[in-house]
Amino acid sequence: PDRTAEFAQLLEVALDAARRAGALLRDGRPADLGVAATKSSQVDVVTEMDIAAEKLITTCIDRLRPDDGLLGEEGASREGTSGVRWVIDPLDGTVNYLYGLPSWAVSIAAEKDGEVVVGVVEVPMRGETYQAVLGGGALVNGVPARRRPAPELSHALVGTGFGYLSQRRAAQAEVVRTLLPQVRDIRRAGSAAIDLVDVGCGRLDAYYERGLNPWDLAAGDLFAREAGALTGGRPGERASGELTVAAPTGLFEPLQQQLDALGAWHD
Ligand code: IPD
Ligand code: CA
Ligand code: CA
Ligand code: CA
Repeated sequence: PDRTAEFAQLLEVALDAARRAGALLRDGRPADLGVAATKSSQVDVVTEMDIAAEKLITTCIDRLRPDDGLLGEEGASREGTSGVRWVIDPLDGTVNYLYGLPSWAVSIAAEKDGEVVVGVVEVPMRGETYQAVLGGGALVNGVPARRRPAPELSHALVGTGFGYLSQRRAAQAEVVRTLLPQVRDIRRAGSAAIDLVDVGCGRLDAYYERGLNPWDLAAGDLFAREAGALTGGRPGERASGELTVAAPTGLFEPLQQQLDALGAWHD
């Protein structure tokens, strides 16, 4: 089958599921929303809405593409037989959502034979949908994303995030301690998917984080690359849980080198 047509179909599925889940989360947030369970640590929380949103997304996908594989943060998991796998973060930025802060997103990516080919990040409280197709560019509400030209590292606004494990947090704090005086400023918005799309659309110069899972980064990483930024891990590696770095060329290389030298990839 024609790849362009196949990717377009996957994009439609992702957009529909992400918009429905975004609306459910925006309109259905209970006033007394509480923590349903904790995960890797006491501060790693999940709410009933994370679970409801994942259920809605997998139901949308199943209806149209029952043979595809699934990987969702809240437990969706299926091998599939079609060569396509959906990588889903139903609610990225759960802690923001719990507190009523607006930076949270629905992130849905489709992989074809192990490569991410479609990514959608829906940010309901911004009224923005970020979409990317491999080789097909990155759009914000249908308009091509425009990233910023690369500044010097010393003038870069750098986003980051912190994994939930407390021993890892101490190491992350050390990296921030050294990096902060070397850059314009640091932002910790609380959603990896939003951080990555923000690099693609010029709201951040760069972003880095250690400890991401595939569902945090799949869609946003494709968006940032399709918007013309570079993404990666340690020098020569792809973005991964070990380290994720995103920035335009010219800033990417010095930031990646600096993070590698600081040991941002180890706990
Ligand atoms: C988290 C957010 C956060 C990042 C954490 C993620 P969740 O995802 O993306 O910004 O710093 O590493 O786990 O749990 O809110 O989906
Ligand atoms: Ca989570
Ligand atoms: Ca996440
Ligand atoms: Ca999540």
